Amino acid sequence: MTNTALESLHPVLNSKPPVVVQARALTKVYGRQPAVDAIDFSVSRGETFGLLGPNGAGKSTTMRMIACRTPLTSGELFVEGRDVRTQAREIRSLIGVVPQENNLDPDLNVLRNLIVYASYYRIPKTRAAQRAAELLDFIGLSERADAKIDHLSGGMKRRLMIARSLLHEPRLLVLDEPTTGLDPQVRQEIWQKLEELRRVSGVTILLSTHYMEEAEKLCERLVVIDHGKILATGTPRELVSAQVSRFALEVRDVGDLPLRAARNGVSAVTRSNAHFYFAADAETLTPIMKEYEGRRRMIRLSNLEDVFLQLVSDNDETRAGSPSQ
Ligand SMILES: Nc1ncnc2c1ncn2[C@@H]1O[C@H](COP(=O)(O)OP(=O)(O)OP(=O)(O)O)[C@@H](O)[C@H]1O
Ligand SMILES: [Mg+2]
Repeated sequence: MTNTALESLHPVLNSKPPVVVQARALTKVYGRQPAVDAIDFSVSRGETFGLLGPNGAGKSTTMRMIACRTPLTSGELFVEGRDVRTQAREIRSLIGVVPQENNLDPDLNVLRNLIVYASYYRIPKTRAAQRAAELLDFIGLSERADAKIDHLSGGMKRRLMIARSLLHEPRLLVLDEPTTGLDPQVRQEIWQKLEELRRVSGVTILLSTHYMEEAEKLCERLVVIDHGKILATGTPRELVSAQVSRFALEVRDVGDLPLRAARNGVSAVTRSNAHFYFAADAETLTPIMKEYEGRRRMIRLSNLEDVFLQLVSDNDETRAGSPSQ
């Protein structure tokens, strides 16, 4: 029996997780400017998928189209197997959304914010109360159930937004920059909650971020986007190995020192008062490091931040050479 025949007898061998979000040539144009420019990607059931990109890359626009909050200009977009153009109401009932800006109701206390939101989903009152209590417990805000929204910290507000998005038990959670503007410790707390959520409930998470650390920590797969276009797709590890050479020399506080010209398979980039050089071997970087005597410098393994640095064009920055393997 051929392999194919065998596989057809055992569909489990052959099965891939169902696709939860499928975007094909997805485009959004504001005026004449494309905010999202013919992007293709898919998110599978149960994974955490990231949109990583700088300000204005098109992350929120993509997420608003998925959440059926803004229409597409062209292309195709299916969420939970439904077409956003014709089945928006159904999609909205199936997904949980945390927009970039918090939009909690300041006239209601913490608990009432959840209860009132649950009523939009026609969740019966007793169920809503039970679910709200469970979620407040999950995000560690049970003690603050009666608090006014204005009295919450930024991290608490963000956690409450996440709880609110989970009231109707969505299988897909769309999080637009879950931790931007929060301090590192609060960011870690939110990461832990998201990891716990995924482990316990198996929810699929689509998140956007411009923090490399967040993408590396949370996302199994991600796309790097800039100016509405996808620059690279893969796991964080794949992106690092495909996009930048294995070793990086980083020199801080370079002032007005010139960037050394790229040579011998070394590529060079400058950004934020630092110079970066990439090469396949650490030894290739050693002579360049010596030229920076007295500066803060180190040779290290390349990381996702370097991928971002190489991929994302920034008009204020100079580049030399190109990424080498
Ligand atoms: N409602 C709108 N009307 C006109 N232009 C818009 C609108 N929303 C977004 N844009 C433009 O579309 C582009 C992409 O914006 P978007 O908000 O999707 O980026 P982003 O990746 O979410 O950025 P940020 O990290 O700053 O949130 C930007 O150039 C932005 O100015
Ligand atoms: Mg945004």
